Amino acid sequence: MAASSSFSVMYMFVVVVSILGSSVFAQLSTNFYSKSCPKVFSAVESVVESAVSKEPRMGASLVRLFFHDCFVNGCDGSLLLDDTSSFTGEKTAAPNNNSVRGFEVVDAIKAKVEKACPGVVSCADILAIAARDSVVKLGGPDWDVKLGRRDSKTASLSAANSGVIPPPTATLTQLINRFQARGLSAKDMVALSGAHTIGKARCVLFRDRIHNETNIDGSFAKARQSSCPRTSGSGDNNLAPLDVKTPNSFDLKYFENLLNKKGLLHSDQILFNGGSTDSLVKTYSRNVKTFYSDFVTAMIKMGDITPLTGSNGEIRKNCRRPN
Ligand code: HEM
Ligand SMILES: *[C@@H]1O[C@H](CO)[C@@H](O)[C@H](O)[C@H]1NC(C)=O
Ligand SMILES: *[C@@H]1O[C@H](CO)[C@@H](O)[C@H](O)[C@H]1NC(C)=O
Repeated sequence: MAASSSFSVMYMFVVVVSILGSSVFAQLSTNFYSKSCPKVFSAVESVVESAVSKEPRMGASLVRLFFHDCFVNGCDGSLLLDDTSSFTGEKTAAPNNNSVRGFEVVDAIKAKVEKACPGVVSCADILAIAARDSVVKLGGPDWDVKLGRRDSKTASLSAANSGVIPPPTATLTQLINRFQARGLSAKDMVALSGAHTIGKARCVLFRDRIHNETNIDGSFAKARQSSCPRTSGSGDNNLAPLDVKTPNSFDLKYFENLLNKKGLLHSDQILFNGGSTDSLVKTYSRNVKTFYSDFVTAMIKMGDITPLTGSNGEIRKNCRRPN
């Protein structure tokens, strides 16, 4: 009796531990593909290299894809699914429509990786590696990417539209809360916003800031107004660099700009506007090592947001559709 009940306790323990191990708490790891696809890194890197040499902004676009994928139901490649006649994915959600880009580059990476190791590497992991490689190509920090995510079989337009990805009109409290909701601290949020040291934004998203806000440098506002008129609807898609100084370098100039009231988006300048994140912005504007190290920590944390692992999800053959 005693022996048999301690046997069942032991058995239960083994079952529970193996359930935890295989799915619920499965961990990502940097060596996930070391046996199954050691060539994944060179395959991703070579495609990112040629895309970024052709157009430096593409590095920014790939970094943003990873952010917008991870914030909506975790890093599961859901953002990459195309709409069909019977399915609407995340691509036309408000934060993404006419905004996120780089899908052709992801296709090219996936094709190369599939050639090297068919059916092994997820699209979600490709986004994680491509984001890292993009940062490195543009002169930013390097880090070991955690891997082992699997791809979703579906996507959620409503989740992508629900505000989990904050809009550029957000207040500081909203920014902090929305990152908090994804397990990221205010410090992570500020460090990750440093990704706006690369890439561009559309006039429609910074019009109010450059015409109506007062915490903005006068000559900077004027320069931006010349290609982004006050009239709603005119020049909406005109682009301006998020970092006025060095738009193609992953450096600390973004934070320096904020000290000079030259943040392009409302959500940029709000990080240095007399609130709780001012001192962190100051620190990053003076110390690139601290910025890099906090950015890497935060990218790894963002990459850990509720991945599909074990036997959940699938390894998509084509990043644009479920198998
Ligand atoms: C803190 C909250 C954030 C807000 C409100 C925000 C908002 C925006 C907006 C409005 C744009 C321009 C989109 C367009 O013009 O269509 C943009 C671009 C960009 N964002 Fe963010 N963002 C945030 C955080 C992040 C994070 C966490 C990352 C990555 C770690 C990121 C990376 C980028 C990049 C690289 C671009 C330029 C993309 C390109 O040129 O294609 N952003 N962001
Ligand atoms: C997305 O953008 C296209 C092209 O500008 C537009 O026609 C469409 O209505 C937009 N979709 C949504 C859901 O806003
Ligand atoms: C600026 O503020 C005014 C007054 O509140 C408003 O009418 C206008 O739409 C805002 N935006 C721009 C771009 O001027």
